[in-house]
This record gives sequence, C-alpha cells and structure tokens, in this order.
Amino acid sequence: MNLAGKTAVVTGAAKGLGRSTAIRLAESGARVAALDINREGLEQVREAIAAAGGEASVQVVDITDNAAVEAAIAEILAAFGHVDILVNNAGSGWHKQTPFKDTPNPDWEWILDLNLKGTLYVTHALLNHMAERKYGKIVNVSSIAATTGIPKLAVYAASKGALVAFTKSLAMEMGPYGINVNCISPGLITDEKVAPPTTGTFLGRKGTADEMAYLIEFLVSDKASFITGVDYLIDGGRVLGPKGV
Ligand SMILES: NC(=O)c1ccc[n+]([C@@H]2O[C@H](COP(=O)([O-])OP(=O)(O)OC[C@H]3O[C@@H](n4cnc5c(N)ncnc54)[C@H](O)[C@@H]3O)[C@@H](O)[C@H]2O)c1
Repeated sequence: MNLAGKTAVVTGAAKGLGRSTAIRLAESGARVAALDINREGLEQVREAIAAAGGEASVQVVDITDNAAVEAAIAEILAAFGHVDILVNNAGSGWHKQTPFKDTPNPDWEWILDLNLKGTLYVTHALLNHMAERKYGKIVNVSSIAATTGIPKLAVYAASKGALVAFTKSLAMEMGPYGINVNCISPGLITDEKVAPPTTGTFLGRKGTADEMAYLIEFLVSDKASFITGVDYLIDGGRVLGPKGV
C-alpha cells in the first residue's frame, strides 16, 4: 500500500495491535501520530518508526478525557496540517472476566468510557476536518465478541457491538463527504495474558497483531476506496463453529 503523504492517527499505539498498526502504516509511508497513556511504549514506537526511516509524533493522551483528546488533535493538525486516517484501536476490558450480575458499576463504566466513548471523542474531534477536506479513512477496532457474545464479558461485548453499529451509521452519514468508515473484529490475538485451553480457531492458532495490521493498512488505503460500513471478522475461522482446534 502506498500511504505517502498521508497522516494517520492511531490510538492505543504503544503496544499490541496499535503498535503494529502504527509501524505498518509508517512503513507504507504515512506520518503517524501515536496516542496512548503509556509514555515508554510510545517512545519505543517512535524509535522503531524512526529506525525504519519513517516519521511519527507521540502524545500521552487518555482518550476518555474529551478535552485532552481535542487538545491533542488540535496539536496534531497544527503540526502536520491534515489528518487522512484514523485508527480507533485503544480498548481493553477482556482480561477480567465476571458474570454481569457480579460486576460492580465502576468495572463496567470504565470499559464503556474507553472502548466506546473514547472512540467517539477521537472520531468527533477529527470528523469536521475530514469532511471539509472530503477525504478520510476511519477504522474502528471491535472484536468477534460483538458477533458471538462472550459469557463473563458482557460489557466488553456490548461496547464492541456498539462500535459496529457506530461504524455502520457513521459510514452512511459520512459517505457523501468522501469518508470511508470500517471496522475490524479480531478474534484472539497472541497475548500471553490470555491463555485459553484451545484457541477456538480452525487454523489452530491465535492471530498476530501484524496480521490485523495488514487488514487495517488495506482498509485505510485508496485500494479500499469502495468499501465502507463493513465489519471485517479476522479470527482464523473462530465464528464459523464452536469446535475449532
Ligand atoms: N488482544 C486480543 O485478543 C483482542 C481481540 C479482539 C479485539 N481486540 C481489540 O484490539 C484492540 C487492541 O488490543 P490489544 O490486545 O493490542 O491491547 P493492548 O492492551 O495490548 O494495548 C492497548 C493499548 O491501549 C492503550 N490504552 C489503554 N487505555 C487507554 C486510554 N484511556 N487512552 C489511550 N490509550 C489507552 C494501552 O496503554 C495500550 O498501549 C482493543 O480495542 C481490543 O479490544 C483485542
């Protein structure tokens, strides 16, 4: 993919899928504005991008803080002049699994704040800018939890389902402004914190962050110009059936 001349904002870019995406987009020529709460991880991403000959800015921003998000986006626009690509990747909440009836409010409010409202804040801060330029590529990172549901992760699944609905609705609203809005729904990504007895996939393994980043790279490129409002399951066949290997 050729992303030369494009500027991409990636949230949750300090590690995992966000880090892989930031590096992938930079390797394809995009200037990357990486947002995260993890300063050390952000610096490592900046170094990795610089070592590969790319350009990145990093900002420590909590995306659940709307004022901080607006300030960060204003800073990015002042520095880079324009933003073409937004990857709403920052998200969490799958590590602590409890039945909803036993989940106290604070435990689920922060999941909604981060996974749903954080994405809304960042998107809202950029949308008028993209609309004025009649150009934008937005990818939201959901989860197969939005399609299958997952017991003991009801709030996480709800937040990710909301992102799919948001993606489709926004794609309809913003199509006339030249803005494509899509969504990816990963299955399990390699992560030592999550060690299920089986992967549940038909490929017999978990996915990697790089495999997810390749799909995002395609969706934010002009090669995907006629694709909008789609939720891409990228899960090694996990949702095809209950068995997997
Ligand atoms: N790992 C999986 O198996 C899996 C599966 C399906 C979907 N997903 C989704 O993919 C996305 C990335 O997952 P990951 O596994 O790479 O996660 P991760 O925990 O490895 O990385 C998430 C990043 O988001 C950052 N972050 C957390 N709160 C933030 C905040 N308030 N503001 C800004 N940044 C914040 C973290 O510091 C971290 O760098 C998430 O949206 C997640 O729900 C992951």
